[in-house]
Amino acid sequence: MPDALRFFDTRPVRAIAFAANDDLPMDKLRISGGAPLVGEVQVAGAKNAALPILAAALLTGDELVLDNVPQLADVTTMGRLLAGMGARLSREGGSVVARTDAIGAVEAPYELVKTMRASILVLGPLLARCGQARVSLPGGCAIGARPVDQHIKGLRALGAQLAIEHGYIVAEAARLKGAHIVADMVTVTGTENLMMAAALADGETVIENAAREPEVVDLARCLNSMGAHVRGAGTDRIVIDGVERLHGARHRVLPDRIETGTFLVAAAACGGDVRMTGAAPETLDAVLDKLREAGAQVDVGADWIRVRAHGRPKPVSLRTSPHPGFPTDMQAQFMALGSVADGVGRITETIFENRFMHVLELQRLGAQIDIEGNTAIVRGVPKLSGARVMATDLRASASLVIAGLLAEGETIIDRIYHLDRGYDRMERRLAALGAKIERVK
Ligand code: EPZ
Repeated sequence: MPDALRFFDTRPVRAIAFAANDDLPMDKLRISGGAPLVGEVQVAGAKNAALPILAAALLTGDELVLDNVPQLADVTTMGRLLAGMGARLSREGGSVVARTDAIGAVEAPYELVKTMRASILVLGPLLARCGQARVSLPGGCAIGARPVDQHIKGLRALGAQLAIEHGYIVAEAARLKGAHIVADMVTVTGTENLMMAAALADGETVIENAAREPEVVDLARCLNSMGAHVRGAGTDRIVIDGVERLHGARHRVLPDRIETGTFLVAAAACGGDVRMTGAAPETLDAVLDKLREAGAQVDVGADWIRVRAHGRPKPVSLRTSPHPGFPTDMQAQFMALGSVADGVGRITETIFENRFMHVLELQRLGAQIDIEGNTAIVRGVPKLSGARVMATDLRASASLVIAGLLAEGETIIDRIYHLDRGYDRMERRLAALGAKIERVK
């Protein structure tokens, strides 16, 4: 195992190898459906906050100590990416310590970037800290083209020169200068990239039409603890007063709202009584509303959420939109729930152009779903029946797990390396709730 990773990920090297090369582990999940879910789950740190915050380690030569960093394949990939630039990462106790006192290479290579699009998040920090960067274009992925034109547009506004050469973004900048940037559409990592670059720019930067996701707010909190001056995170207008340098800090990553929502939907679908602890209920309003509409009883405390459900869910209709609207990352999970509802629901995906890959697999399990443009009409059936299915992307995998948990008979899910990108050993935590689920090598 490469030195830089020695202390970073305690899981077998196979889990790390997947991040970098093509021979992906072909683990499967075997599920026998029908069991209700009962018990408690401790929520892990948010993948989509940990990734930009790890990239922020590039902004300072001091030590950045991060608590509540989840053990995920994507986090390991980000670790490999930073290690390749000379950063030293280690897991000490439950914390990750990142030291980037010296940056050697300023490159994010294709073989890593193609496995994780969020690699684009090193672009802004590298430009701000080193004045240059060479980042592979991510390329498309299962759910859509995923262009990065807004990242490039914003960095150019900050004074960087960027060109596309042989599939790489080649960028350089003397010192970035504050600018007024209006994003053409809401982009989460675009907002994060520009916020990190602006933190060290000369002067004031305003980002209009900024993403309002809780993970953007968590990154801003971390940057401010490092000495940045970021105001307005969580609104669609973020103002950053650039500083000369940032210093080290200690930051606790916020709870993962999508992991939380995924387990809550599983409980609503299978029936039972599940309590998520260490959660951030205030980041899940739209999801909790839809769970109540589906007939689940949802109780909320300061840092916990409890779902009780029995019998068939009611049909719900939803339309994904940027935060605080219904999150696109919860769309596939609700489609599994709706597949056994006692009625018809309409699910409209407005963020990504191809995020219905799970529909074909759910149909193999007996779901009655028709697609009309970017809307799926889900006609609930009394029962799904187990079958062999294949995961295609991260949240589609979660949707298939939920469908397998409520289907009659046995379901086998192939290519669950997709699932491992965003959920830490999900099958173990579901089994602890009473699910009959196991990983098959
Ligand atoms: C982030 O992706 C999340 N990933 C995604 O979670 C999430 O689905 C997405 O935001 C939307 O909430 C991380 O935070 C690491 P976008 P991101 O830029 O930033 C278009 C998961 O499952 N767009 O907000 O890549 C884009 O094509 C992942 O955890 C441009 O056209 O998404 C999309 O249609 C999946 N040009 C829309 O905007 C750009 O320059 C929103 O994309 C940027 C984006």
